[in-house]
Amino acid sequence: TQRSITVIPGDGIGPSIVEAAIRILDAAGCNFHYDYADAGLMALEKHGELLPQRTLDLIANNKIALKGPLTTPIAGGFTSINVSLRKHFNLYANLRPVVSFEGTKSRFDNVDIITIRENTEGMYSGAGQTRASDNNSAEAMSIVTREGAERITEFAYQLAVKEGRKKVTIVHKANILKSTSGLFLEVAREVALRYPQIETNEMIVDAVCMNLVMYPERFDIIVTTNLFGDIISDLCAGLIGGLGMAPGANIGKEVAIFEAVHGSAPDIAGQNIANPCSVILAAIQMLEHLGQQDKGMQDKAELIRSAMRKTIKDGTTVTRDLGGNASTTEFTQAIIANL
Ligand code: NAI
Ligand code: MG
Repeated sequence: TQRSITVIPGDGIGPSIVEAAIRILDAAGCNFHYDYADAGLMALEKHGELLPQRTLDLIANNKIALKGPLTTPIAGGFTSINVSLRKHFNLYANLRPVVSFEGTKSRFDNVDIITIRENTEGMYSGAGQTRASDNNSAEAMSIVTREGAERITEFAYQLAVKEGRKKVTIVHKANILKSTSGLFLEVAREVALRYPQIETNEMIVDAVCMNLVMYPERFDIIVTTNLFGDIISDLCAGLIGGLGMAPGANIGKEVAIFEAVHGSAPDIAGQNIANPCSVILAAIQMLEHLGQQDKGMQDKAELIRSAMRKTIKDGTTVTRDLGGNASTTEFTQAIIANL
């Protein structure tokens, strides 16, 4: 039977890079059925709301979605659609791998780091956001629960075991944020004790930033709270040639949504120059996720990854951010030719 995937093209560069990923999935012979759904600015214009019920229903039915970046209007008091989606489906784990590709413009060639970002709590829970009526003060609440901290660190260690990884770095700021980050660290340490075979390392978030930039090879899996994970994962993208090379999976018990780490890139939208690899790598993550039940999917993931490697290493037909001058479509075509 044909598997159905919910596809959200998204805003800005979204539709072009999502289309690129779909073309590659098809060319690799994945044989998916795609249910297209709107969200973001595009949905607001078409349906008068940022996140239509039909989109939520399609994600719930298919359980798997591939999603382009969404623009949340800053004015108008809208809550972020990404945050809403993550909360609605309880997608508590955000899995963001960065791996060096030979041929990208980056200072390192041996980076292989997975950031596991807690995705529903922390500074992004949306709780307690207030602005004084005189506009002279503002507040936001950070929330850490034992349950939330435990399930995300468990997720990180289980991934380490499953993928044969050696080390988990727990990233925190418990010296200053004693209540929230303090609880996170305490719970993470308890979980770490259950995995004596995995090396555990604790590091304060500011030191992590310095060390990532100088010695990325010292990191394997990073587990941290929402805000730190957001920032660190963009930093990690910078270690491997930029946001165009960084995918992210939002994983819950029922549903998983695969996307790029970056946003809708309004500065380059509509020019056919965006790097589609972020969403192609997200599609690879999706295949690997499905591959837990279906070995064939795992093989497709490998096939696509090696075609990407070959195209980027060759370097003649890559997008601007990778040092070339090919369009999104030409780059995609070159990857397809290398499948
Ligand atoms: P951005 O991530 O869209 O762009 C940052 C920089 O990276 C820009 O210079 C952009 O041109 C470049 N870039 C991003 N993706 C690229 C690609 N595939 N190829 C080549 N260059 C690429 O961040 P920005 O501009 O701060 O945010 C724009 C919008 O995106 C905002 O409305 C924000 O809310 C939204 N956003 C959505 C996310 C999501 O849907 N998951 C995540 C982050 C931001
Ligand atoms: Mg971000």
